[in-house]
Amino acid sequence: MKQFLFPCTILLLATLHFTTITAQSPAQAPAPPGPTNTTKILEKAGQYNNLIRLLVSTQVGDQIDTQLNNSNQGMTLFAPTDNAFSSLKSGTLNSLTDQDKVELLQFHVLPTFVSTAQFQTVSNPLRTQAGNANSGQFLLNVTTTGNQVNLTTGVVNATVANTIYTDGKLAIYQVDKVLLPRSLFGPPAPAPAPKPEKGSPPTSSDTPSDSSKDTSGAMGHSSSKIVSFAVAVMITASCL
Ligand SMILES: *[C@@H]1O[C@H](CO)[C@@H](O)[C@H](O)[C@H]1NC(C)=O
Ligand SMILES: *[C@@H]1O[C@H](CO)[C@@H](O)[C@H](O)[C@H]1NC(C)=O
Ligand SMILES: *[C@@H]1O[C@H](CO)[C@@H](O)[C@H](O)[C@H]1NC(C)=O
Ligand SMILES: *[C@@H]1O[C@H](CO)[C@@H](O)[C@H](O)[C@H]1NC(C)=O
Ligand SMILES: *[C@@H]1O[C@H](CO)[C@@H](O)[C@H](O)[C@H]1NC(C)=O
Repeated sequence: MKQFLFPCTILLLATLHFTTITAQSPAQAPAPPGPTNTTKILEKAGQYNNLIRLLVSTQVGDQIDTQLNNSNQGMTLFAPTDNAFSSLKSGTLNSLTDQDKVELLQFHVLPTFVSTAQFQTVSNPLRTQAGNANSGQFLLNVTTTGNQVNLTTGVVNATVANTIYTDGKLAIYQVDKVLLPRSLFGPPAPAPAPKPEKGSPPTSSDTPSDSSKDTSGAMGHSSSKIVSFAVAVMITASCL
């Protein structure tokens, strides 16, 4: 009986150990060996599945890694959480063309390394990878109070919540909103309000197609914990 119990105990301990490891919150990960892999860093951090999918499909993730390797300016990425994506209005992403998605992602990337301290002194608007900030179409402004860093695009206000990763070359910050640029989501250029006239065509409000939201996240930590626990229970049961 003892001989039989022994491997069971090992198996059980191993399972519980795995549970503990996966449950640990990934604090600032050390620089992985070799070239920086932005999507890998985000995978480790968890809760960025929507962002990762977009970084891969638009190839902006590769662009960041290549640019990091080829410049000494560093890079900064604002990383919206899966929650930020799921709080977007339904159909927001589906209404975008592939080129729009590239712009949206590039709008989250600065072609320089910006430390948390440097946010206090950067000049507005920030220069993003998406294009000319001064045109107002890709405006991204920073406001700070104490250690709190907020961003505004003119369409949304976001808060920089956490440093996910920093190594002096690449900084990745968690943001609580998807940064929607004016170019794609802003109101059309303000025109002088026309006086209503007889026979003028009705203004058609542009309602985006209400297609399904892009929210399918991968299994989170809490559910993997539950699975591990269930496995542990099953092993225990089979050992009895
Ligand atoms: C970066 O990491 C992702 C996920 O781990 C992997 O799919 C991809 O191939 C990696 N890219 C490079 C250039 O190694
Ligand atoms: C990084 O740059 C070096 C030389 O500058 C080059 O040999 C290497 O292929 C580059 N790696 C990637 C992943 O771009
Ligand atoms: C930043 O945003 C938070 C939450 O919206 C708000 O309470 C705070 O006043 C803002 N701070 C600045 C400096 O804009
Ligand atoms: C962004 O900052 C610029 C420069 O300070 C300012 O002119 C502009 O009004 C700001 N826009 C928003 C939406 O905060
Ligand atoms: C963003 O913040 C500014 C200043 O605090 C406020 O005037 C504006 O209404 C906010 N915009 C949104 C979309 O919350």
